[in-house]
Amino acid sequence: MTDVIDGKKVAEEVVATVRQGAAKLIAEVGVTPGIAVVIVGKDPASQVYVNSKSRKAKECGFHSVQHELPAETPEDELLSLIGDLNADPAIHGILVQLPLPKQIDSARVIQAISPDKDVDGFHFVNVGKLGTGEIASAFVPCTPAGSMLLVERVRGRDLSGLNAVVVGRSNIVGKPMANLLLAANCTVTIAHSRTHDLPALCRTADILVAAVGRPEMIRGDWVKPGATVIDVGINRIDAPERGEGKTRLVGDVAFDEAAPLAGAITPVPGGVGPMTIAMLMANTLVAACRTAG
Ligand code: GUN
Repeated sequence: MTDVIDGKKVAEEVVATVRQGAAKLIAEVGVTPGIAVVIVGKDPASQVYVNSKSRKAKECGFHSVQHELPAETPEDELLSLIGDLNADPAIHGILVQLPLPKQIDSARVIQAISPDKDVDGFHFVNVGKLGTGEIASAFVPCTPAGSMLLVERVRGRDLSGLNAVVVGRSNIVGKPMANLLLAANCTVTIAHSRTHDLPALCRTADILVAAVGRPEMIRGDWVKPGATVIDVGINRIDAPERGEGKTRLVGDVAFDEAAPLAGAITPVPGGVGPMTIAMLMANTLVAACRTAG
């Protein structure tokens, strides 16, 4: 029987552990983990994400502040806010929601965040640590970190010699995911839009990670029997069968086709999605613990 991985349940377990850790840090050291979430503009999807990040932080017992800046905010102003947050001892984690408006250079903003408060794991210092195997002291980006936790739930921590294929080469998911799998001794291939014969490559994968942002692109017959399939995609598509104007969420994997072949597979929604915020909370707790020595 295929194991449909319950990311919501695993995420709740992570959040419960973080809440306990935060309570202990507050009681024993007098440090309350603090997170600042910054959003520029009013993109509705980003607003939903940011609100749920702030809500989850409060649920964990964190000090949580949200900065909502207008869409036309100049880059200097955002950099100045980041400077203030870097210097604020009550803030241990800083998250600037991406994408940012056109007048702002995202790369410059990300590099302005102190690497010690970079709970997204996007700063070059943290990217470099992950890339060189210094994972224990790095902040690892939340979506791949959460995906990796789900893989480990299914296959254990030692993934030695397994073939892993990561479809998608983004800095936020594909590349860090590949580095995590490599550190766990997988043989890793990163596939992308120029890859030749992607279906054949996917069929070699014991662990298949889909992070392309294209609805149901990965078909059932691309999946090796028994493979662990991690679907990072969250795509909203029209669902006329549900009524006029209705939509539904699907992943990058055609779930109904792939599930009978996979040994384990994450659903969308309820798979990787809830793990991202849970790992953000875990990273923030770690950041706070580090300041407490
Ligand atoms: N936008 C989409 N995903 C992310 C993420 O993981 N972090 C931030 N900061 N912005 C995002």
